[in-house]
Amino acid sequence: MAIERTLVLVKPDGVQRGLAGEVISRFERTGLRLTGIKLMQVSQDLATRHYAEHNGKPFYPGLISFITSSPVVAMVLEGPDAIKTVRKIMGVTKPAEAAPGTIRGDLAVDMGRNLVHGSANADDAAREVGLFFTDSELVRYKRSNEGWIVEGA
Ligand code: RTP
Ligand code: MG
Repeated sequence: MAIERTLVLVKPDGVQRGLAGEVISRFERTGLRLTGIKLMQVSQDLATRHYAEHNGKPFYPGLISFITSSPVVAMVLEGPDAIKTVRKIMGVTKPAEAAPGTIRGDLAVDMGRNLVHGSANADDAAREVGLFFTDSELVRYKRSNEGWIVEGA
């Protein structure tokens, strides 16, 4: 089990709908450790860098205008298999196909308003954490119950 870091965003729809706490709580309860968190407005420049892989796709203009339309909560979560764990809690991209119990499955109905972002793989995670957070914004600490969450921690 690799200890990983991943970038999570509560997208503008989540903040506007008052679901930021609910979304954060679902991730927090897994045992993944919160390493950085902030409310921020995503600039045009940051949006185009973050979603560079989708440039040219039909949904790209809507995606950029959506992610820059209102603040997001950005966070970094850390722990064993953090990337896969976060994607599992999020559910698949299309809410109608996302399993019950997932954030998208329980709380969303539209792919263009699917509440949450999580890095897709290790390369994306490293790139995205660096885009959204400076090193000094990431806090290194241990929780008193670490060994009850991760064997050998
Ligand atoms: P995200 O990047 O936001 O975590 O979501 P994801 O990995 O599940 O999905 P991805 O393929 O990376 O797409 C990024 C976001 O673009 C919107 N999208 N719309 N209309 C469409 O066909 C379409 N495909 C993707 C979604 O909002 C998706 O979260
Ligand atoms: Mg993605």
